[in-house]
Amino acid sequence: MSVEKRSFKLHPHVFYSLVNMQAGTLQKAVLEGVMNAADAKARRCDLTVDEATVVIADDGQGFRSRQEIDEWFEIFGQPHEEAEKKVYGSFRIGRGQMFKFGVNDWTSGTFRMHVDAKNRGNDYDLTTDATPAKGCKVQIALYERLLPSALLEVRREVARMVKYMEISGLKVFLNGERASMDPAGQKWDAETDDAYIKLTQSGSLSIYNQGALVTDMNGRTLGTGGTVVSKLRLKVNFARNDVMSECPVWRRVRKAVDQRATQRNRTRQVHSDWERDRLAQQMLAGELSDEDAANLRLFTDVCGRNWSARQIDRALYSYDCKVSVAAKGDRRGDVLHQQKVAFILAQETLDRFEARDTKTLLCVVADNSHGHFYHRDIKHVPFSTLGKGLRDNAMILPDSKTSPSERVWVRLLQGGQGRIVSTYHGGLDRETRKICVGESDSYEAWTDGQTYIAFSRRLLRGLKFDLLGVLRAYKVLLHECVHDGPDSAEHVHGAEFYQEFHDHVDVADETAVREFACLPRLLAAEGMKVKMQHAKDLDKLERASRESKGFELAAAMPVKPVDRKPAGPAKAECPYSGKSKAIFEAFSDFVEFDSVIGDLAGEFEDKVSEEDAKAKGKTRRQVAFDRLVHLYRVLANPRHADNHGSREERQGGKVRLVACERGER
Ligand SMILES: Nc1ncnc2c1ncn2[C@@H]1O[C@H](COP(=O)(O)OP(=O)(O)OP(=O)(O)O)[C@@H](O)[C@H]1O
Ligand SMILES: [Mg+2]
Repeated sequence: MSVEKRSFKLHPHVFYSLVNMQAGTLQKAVLEGVMNAADAKARRCDLTVDEATVVIADDGQGFRSRQEIDEWFEIFGQPHEEAEKKVYGSFRIGRGQMFKFGVNDWTSGTFRMHVDAKNRGNDYDLTTDATPAKGCKVQIALYERLLPSALLEVRREVARMVKYMEISGLKVFLNGERASMDPAGQKWDAETDDAYIKLTQSGSLSIYNQGALVTDMNGRTLGTGGTVVSKLRLKVNFARNDVMSECPVWRRVRKAVDQRATQRNRTRQVHSDWERDRLAQQMLAGELSDEDAANLRLFTDVCGRNWSARQIDRALYSYDCKVSVAAKGDRRGDVLHQQKVAFILAQETLDRFEARDTKTLLCVVADNSHGHFYHRDIKHVPFSTLGKGLRDNAMILPDSKTSPSERVWVRLLQGGQGRIVSTYHGGLDRETRKICVGESDSYEAWTDGQTYIAFSRRLLRGLKFDLLGVLRAYKVLLHECVHDGPDSAEHVHGAEFYQEFHDHVDVADETAVREFACLPRLLAAEGMKVKMQHAKDLDKLERASRESKGFELAAAMPVKPVDRKPAGPAKAECPYSGKSKAIFEAFSDFVEFDSVIGDLAGEFEDKVSEEDAKAKGKTRRQVAFDRLVHLYRVLANPRHADNHGSREERQGGKVRLVACERGER
């Protein structure tokens, strides 16, 4: 019997799988490169992040010999030697994160390393006699091009991750701008031998290991948000995205943070959401003194303001002792609360106290704040029954009183109005009117039918600068454009109005998408920045144009899931069969047009043939959507030749279909 010593071998594919399995994002991979630069005693590191390429170039010692390449670059997991004196490097695998995201070209001294782990596994090309170059430069040609939002995020995150790198003497520049600073020159709440500490009431606690971000710890963990930059080395996990709990430096830092946070919470009036949640739990458990229970502001109203039990107790008389509840930010609730029709709590307050209704909640309060909450004659009113007695005082604001974001909306809407009312695409054939901002308790928008269209502040505040926001604003604009007389008196619309509205929805939507593309320019003109959601919507437009020749609005629009009542047994009066019947039933109750049609398009896309879609250059869903919209218009218009006897009704921006006589208006 002969025994032979053998070694296991790895298939090249396993190498990329291992590289790929390292937890991490592209920004984390860039940080690995920056930490390597610091370990190579570099003083400066230049990062370039574009949609297709990432470059990390430093002026450190580089690779100085073939032996260093053989041992340190080629072998994964080679143990470190004391003489290397590394600040960050500990596992000799970090470069794998850079291999994961693209073809790597490393340049250092006379060496060039060309790595394509995805396609060539553990094989790489080494050149040893290239023209000498200083330091080390890693160029990554990304396997996947970054979309605009991803590019924005990677740049932002990289800047955040390297923010305090100068603690180890390395200045980091991102696309030419300095991204790092020395924590010694900053203001901190505390500085110990172990770390710089700054605490905030909200957000997470960002932990930097000697300047390099490790993790964003949930604020709840230590009851505080903020920033910690360790001066000494923290023990981190293999993926380098968490601090090991046994790390002695971290234990001391954690204690210092904990002490400061507790001290601050006791003396403060204003709390973050999760602090309020925690205090509410303590109140329910009877752990708060009567005095604290009465004075801590743990009750959030519909407008987002926080009240103490004592404050509510005093205020209730001016609210006629009526109490109700609505979702925080509910516009109607906001108005009713401000007009003191009732004291409207935010639903989240009930959740915070695990109360099923306002009555249970106020009982808990009374029980826990003896002597500070007396009210016995409170009327608990369901939110749905509130609302009578809304006063209105619609008013147009002078331009000088408008905010930058309101001005952006005005310019955005003014820009597209001409297109909607022009005769192009069968427009409304009307004069354009001045778009202005106004204040009104009950109108979202109004017009005199001739000279102006006013958008209420409240409406604009509720709209975001994203595609959905612009589409909504344009729907309102169209609604007002269709009015050719004042609409602020009796706001009742006839069938003609809706016909005209529907006939122009397409052009309004198209205009919204066009104008949406101008947003970055308009925002910049007011000194505002492009938001992430806006960039994401631009992604959608770009993706749509990459995937299909023609861009179809419906597919790019986020379709909100809707609560659609089950269709139930077909109603006797439904005059249709097949697809029309499905539409008629889906619109049997007041619902949002876009959402329900979007939903139905999902159900009916199977019925569209691949050839039909191809011929139109659209997806099957888009074609289904188009057909459903067309059919809906037939069902909404009793005068249409194919209408079997149904018409549309509207209520607060929602629509439904009801049976009627054919030809009836
Ligand atoms: N910019 C650089 N300049 C000089 N040498 C470098 C550079 N980047 C990497 N190296 C060499 O390549 C080796 C491997 O880098 P890698 O990031 O994989 O491991 P590490 O930094 O040693 O440890 P860790 O896995 O913790 O990051 C390093 O130890 C270092 O010797
Ligand atoms: Mg490293």
